[in-house]
Amino acid sequence: MSKNKLQQFADLDTFKNVLQYGLLQKTNFPYKGKWASAYFKNENPIVLELACGKGEYAIGLAEINPNRNYIGVEIKGNRIWTGSKNATNKGLQEVVFLRTEIEWLTDFFADEEVSKIWITFCDPYLSITKKHKRLTSPRFLNLYQQVLKKGGTINVKIDDETLYQYTLDVLAGKETIEKYPCDVSVFELLENRNDIYNDGKPLPEALHIKTYYEKKHLEKGKKIKYILFEKR
Ligand SMILES: C[S@@+](CC[C@H](N)C(=O)[O-])C[C@H]1O[C@@H](n2cnc3c(N)ncnc32)[C@H](O)[C@@H]1O
Repeated sequence: MSKNKLQQFADLDTFKNVLQYGLLQKTNFPYKGKWASAYFKNENPIVLELACGKGEYAIGLAEINPNRNYIGVEIKGNRIWTGSKNATNKGLQEVVFLRTEIEWLTDFFADEEVSKIWITFCDPYLSITKKHKRLTSPRFLNLYQQVLKKGGTINVKIDDETLYQYTLDVLAGKETIEKYPCDVSVFELLENRNDIYNDGKPLPEALHIKTYYEKKHLEKGKKIKYILFEKR
């Protein structure tokens, strides 16, 4: 590992807007069910950016609407380091980062504690044997439906055609994973756009935010897709 990365990992322990839990399951996490009262000390809705990379969405959304609490969840420390620095430099106290694997989401958030989830350009894991790693697979949707409030939304931006179709199939109940059941009837598909920048429909301000990976995909001429669904 480079010296720079080691220094960044040491820095993370000192950053006020970073909570680090590595690869481990976490029991008795102190803010589970208490993010509003004990951590943020306000009642603003909680928005998660999952697999946030450098946290561009959490930061961009906070700039549009500061009256929410944003938590970027990501396992890679060097990416969180950049996001944390950027949020601090912009004075965005409502943006924080949680370093963990999304597999442990329900260790960190209580039932119905979260209002919105954003997932942007997650890895497509194209091998058929790795479908359970896709962040829009039934395995993960089952976690999201637990932590989301009723009426809470999941916003997904995708470049990859296979992952896009897979996500729609999961929501339609056509793709399941025996080991990880999920009752997808709790979700209602609200929007499904195959090419947001060229389909002629209005683009809400939040969809203008571009992450590091989105910029790379756009440079390659890829179409950006968007799926919005809600917990009933
Ligand atoms: C392709 S990058 C996208 C990052 C960012 N959303 C963007 O658009 O620039 C995927 C990110 O997901 C993170 N990731 C993938 N699976 C994860 C998991 N199970 N738990 C936490 N982070 C994960 C990776 O570390 C990586 O930073």
